[in-house]
Amino acid sequence: MIESSSLDATRAAYDAVAPRYAELFRDSVEGRPLDLALVTAFAELVRAAGAGPVADLGCGPGGVTARLASLGVTAFGVDASPAMIELARREYPDLRFDEGSMLALDIADGTLGGVLAWYSIIHTPPEDLPVIFAEFARVLAPGGHLLLGFFATDDDSPHRAQPFDHKVSLAHRLSIDHVADLASKAGLTEVARLRREPGDNERFQHGRLLARKPTEP
Ligand SMILES: C[S@@+](CC[C@H](N)C(=O)[O-])C[C@H]1O[C@@H](n2cnc3c(N)ncnc32)[C@H](O)[C@@H]1O
Repeated sequence: MIESSSLDATRAAYDAVAPRYAELFRDSVEGRPLDLALVTAFAELVRAAGAGPVADLGCGPGGVTARLASLGVTAFGVDASPAMIELARREYPDLRFDEGSMLALDIADGTLGGVLAWYSIIHTPPEDLPVIFAEFARVLAPGGHLLLGFFATDDDSPHRAQPFDHKVSLAHRLSIDHVADLASKAGLTEVARLRREPGDNERFQHGRLLARKPTEP
């Protein structure tokens, strides 16, 4: 696993709040119809392509991993926080959860039908994001899909990432164009994008990007 002080800080922060986080956000698409529709469509696309299992990267307490499994795909979770992994294993004993980092995944090349990273890329320093996108592209099988959820910004500054006072660990809002560009530079093809306006009790817009690894290079 590649280590970085930022990842250490994120891991320690989520370890410290894991039970409380799980109480609040066990399944973070529950009660959000647009997000649920996207995750459901993603699962259908993965099933239709038949390209392999789905990794829920930065799975937290595992509720979305379990939802993916209930949608008929073989799903497993990966998270940098041992406390999150312990909680997920306890809550969903039939599913697989591994400790690991998106910066260096312990997953073989070209083996996944899908990668979901739901609010987990937000804690990576913007300059390290290309490493993570390269990992997404490496582990996906040709025809595999990537679905990302993140806090969005319209800011068009050169880095197109805005730090904000995330309650757990330093995080950035990202422009959807920038995220699409990162996916494209990693060799993935954009399928769809969505910007959702803040709902009740939410501060920011939300970005979603669906991309696919081409079947031919
Ligand atoms: C905001 S939580 C989202 C959890 C879950 N995806 C959800 O939707 O509820 C972010 C999660 O990503 C994990 N995470 C952040 N950076 C990571 C990295 N580089 N590798 C693996 N997990 C990471 C954190 O430990 C945390 O559990």
